[in-house]
Amino acid sequence: MQTIQNRALLKVLCDASEQALAVVNPATDEVLGYVPTLSEADIHLALERAHGAQKQWAARTAKDRATIIKQWFNLVIQNRDDLARIITLEQGKPLTEANSEVVYGASFIEWFAEQGKRSYGHTIPTHNRDRRLATIKQPVGVAAAITPWNFPIAMITRKAAPALAAGCSFLVKPANQTPLTAYAVAELAYQAGIPQDVLQVVTHHSSTVVGKVFCESPIVRKLSFTGSTRVGRQLMAQCAPTVKRLSLELGGNAPFIVFDDANIDAAVAGAVASKFRNGGQTCVCANRFYVHRAVYDEFVARFHNAVKQLRVGNGMDHGVHIGPMIDQAAKDKVNGLVTRAIQEGAHQLTEQSRMEGLFMMPTILVNVRQGMDIVHDEIFGPVAPMIPFQSDEELIEMTNDTIYGLAAYFYSQNISRIWRVAEALEYGMVGINEGIISTEQVPFGGVKQSGFGREGGQEGIEEYLDTKYLCFGGI
Ligand code: SIN
Repeated sequence: MQTIQNRALLKVLCDASEQALAVVNPATDEVLGYVPTLSEADIHLALERAHGAQKQWAARTAKDRATIIKQWFNLVIQNRDDLARIITLEQGKPLTEANSEVVYGASFIEWFAEQGKRSYGHTIPTHNRDRRLATIKQPVGVAAAITPWNFPIAMITRKAAPALAAGCSFLVKPANQTPLTAYAVAELAYQAGIPQDVLQVVTHHSSTVVGKVFCESPIVRKLSFTGSTRVGRQLMAQCAPTVKRLSLELGGNAPFIVFDDANIDAAVAGAVASKFRNGGQTCVCANRFYVHRAVYDEFVARFHNAVKQLRVGNGMDHGVHIGPMIDQAAKDKVNGLVTRAIQEGAHQLTEQSRMEGLFMMPTILVNVRQGMDIVHDEIFGPVAPMIPFQSDEELIEMTNDTIYGLAAYFYSQNISRIWRVAEALEYGMVGINEGIISTEQVPFGGVKQSGFGREGGQEGIEEYLDTKYLCFGGI
């Protein structure tokens, strides 16, 4: 951790003990440090404190909250290099990508600082001459979140910032692989003036235990989760008895489609960006490629050439494009999918060498058929299966043939096809001639078993607000 200038960001580090959680660098397997884990009683206490502090936080004006949250944004940007290094050390992504993630994460803080001031209610034309009707927006209360390791800062800020701007207090259970970034960004929030009980980080060996406490507690009025569909289903069931509001950003199975009228240069660039962002470990990464037969050979050859230029290695090293997988289980899962696809008749176009440690070579598979597991499972790794198609109808059927509905991408120059396909794809987000679509101004989220709720955009803050109807009589 020598490379971190601002040691105050990591003052949470503690000594190794049975209770402490070891944070491991996936590129080197070295232990970076230890963070404390809370007991169940401590988590309940944290909830009580959040509950106690929420009313006071909500009583401040939206403008007052916005000023403090904007200062949080400024501090995140000022500490950008240190935060990026922490991300690369504990998560593995290349330093340039980690730097972009800090800016992406900060953008949600800035955006929602502003949006908090625009949480408008309505006046409603009355149905009765002696009545006046209106709505106001109020914070839901205590909000809790469980966040993943793939974007250690951005997946926290895009939940925490709207919650805090709305007037909620907020607890986050970060992934056990990446708690250091969570503590560092919370430390900057405290330096900005956000009270310690209003924003709390909860670390524990078991996400299941924390999830259960969050779900069962009547104090928590809102739960936001980013992670697998399997866990999302469990959380949803656990939240039923307390009828909590939920946002679930779950698994994806993004199709990346190249039509015969596509600009192939743009499609290849978009495919590389979409597939290999964070080494393929994002919910919106292209998961399967459908390429029109007329351009299949050309696209695959050019994509292959581009993939050969990618360098795999320690994200701290200059010129690296793909860091390690997050852990052995993740690497084994991806290798298992590739092995099974090959047994079922797929052919590996790229070099077949196995890499040491958690590193994986980017892989292209051809001769892939729609029925294979690799087309239906979320790969979450640097593997690109290629499937040729002939007609638009056949294509739409194949792309919608999944339980998931998060993101989809397609490349075409034909405006009427663009509209028809965009409307027919059963996905919450569609990139048209673009492989990277995430930004703070837009509503990020899915349909079907990719979940519900939207993060970012005008919609993001609504997830943390209740609408109250006021009826004024005797006017
Ligand atoms: C995710 O993988 O869940 C988030 C990706 C993004 O925000 O672009």
